[in-house]
Amino acid sequence: MVKIDIKGCKNFIDGQLYEKYLCKALSAFDVLESEKGAGNDFLGWKKLPTDTPESLIAECEAVRDDWKGLGVDLVIAIGIGGSYLGAKCAIEALSHNFSKQLHREGAPEVVFAGNNLSEDYLAELMDLAAERNTACVVISKSGTTTEPAVAFRIVKQYIEKTYGKAEAARRIVAITDEHKGALKTLSTREGYRTFIVPDNVGGRFSVLTPVGLLPIALAGFDIRAMLRGAAAEQKALAVKSAENPAVVYAATRNALYSALGKKVEILVSYNPKLQYLAEWWKQLYGESEGKDGKGIFPASVNNTADLHSMGQFIQEGDRVMFETVLNVREAARKVVIEADEDNLDGLNYLAGKRVEHCNQMARLGTVLAHIDGGVPQLEVSFDKIDESSLGAVFYFFEFACGISAYTLGVNPFNQPGVEAYKKNMFALLEKPGYEEASSTLRARL
Ligand code: PA5
Repeated sequence: MVKIDIKGCKNFIDGQLYEKYLCKALSAFDVLESEKGAGNDFLGWKKLPTDTPESLIAECEAVRDDWKGLGVDLVIAIGIGGSYLGAKCAIEALSHNFSKQLHREGAPEVVFAGNNLSEDYLAELMDLAAERNTACVVISKSGTTTEPAVAFRIVKQYIEKTYGKAEAARRIVAITDEHKGALKTLSTREGYRTFIVPDNVGGRFSVLTPVGLLPIALAGFDIRAMLRGAAAEQKALAVKSAENPAVVYAATRNALYSALGKKVEILVSYNPKLQYLAEWWKQLYGESEGKDGKGIFPASVNNTADLHSMGQFIQEGDRVMFETVLNVREAARKVVIEADEDNLDGLNYLAGKRVEHCNQMARLGTVLAHIDGGVPQLEVSFDKIDESSLGAVFYFFEFACGISAYTLGVNPFNQPGVEAYKKNMFALLEKPGYEEASSTLRARL
């Protein structure tokens, strides 16, 4: 289960201020639970952990088994934003740090594409595909997003050329809207297996739909355990209370932002496997709250590495930030620092201690130093990095995001601002229909 500790905010938020924002967060909880707030047609994510049918999980596992039969050892997962970050986060968190170098037999390697427009990236991806037995999952809820569409055209043509058109239909799976979009039309025409992104689930809330579940299952991880972990969290967070960790998180961050001007939240991790958890979280909170001229800017650091790059700023720079520190209660592996007869490195005072003990002391020491430096500290903790805990963490941050955005007074479930760059890009690419805008923009360049 996910727990929250806000004692690192006590020097900054007094009891009266906290009560005020707790009340606001509890009202926002009611708005979320009543399903009457702004964007309430996008609340399908709330019941995914308990309502995902067995048949859907079995379908994901069937693709995994089918591709195993074909000897697939490389899956290219194409998608951007919410159609990529959840799966990337889970796969990075659950994989061995050196799985690529170890070349152990097992599940195929899942790599991601369609999340950039770098020509070098795509060319080098094709170098990799040429050496491997390749299949592809293409993910786009709208089915019209340019970055994944460009990547998919290239990967599709490669797969058809390499394995033949008939087998391509077996090696390509699409995840998209049930009825509309170019990807839907194309998938029907080409006879691809398709999974549906439910209408009422927005991209950044879709990790527990096939958008996340299929790539995670293909990478060899247990999506049933992930859904079970999320379901336990769903049950725990459904209780309206001042101790509900999602309510506490929403109340605290809104008090820090609105009353104390802390405009930047840094998600801090002490395990490199959690780097993409921060990327997923940044999209979730950035896209849900950053609108109407409001919102906390979500940033992240990976410690202890970033203590040696960003640590100076966080300790002594402009006091605009607070930190939410991820605390994983149990390391999966054990490495003990042994005594050394010569002690030339002077480390014998650590003899017999686990490296994780040093990591925890670094975390606690940093928390205290940053409090002294004027940076409020929240702690979000969970048991370990496994499927079940990750499911719980996904659900916790999603549910808290809904409460927090309603506390802030914005619609958590739209993203109107994402369109502006797309219109300009289409105009500059001379997409039919954008001719007028094209000449206006070119005149400005
Ligand atoms: O959260 C969101 O809605 C967005 O980040 C989308 O996931 C992202 O823009 C990709 O969209 P699509 O899945 O339609 O290609």
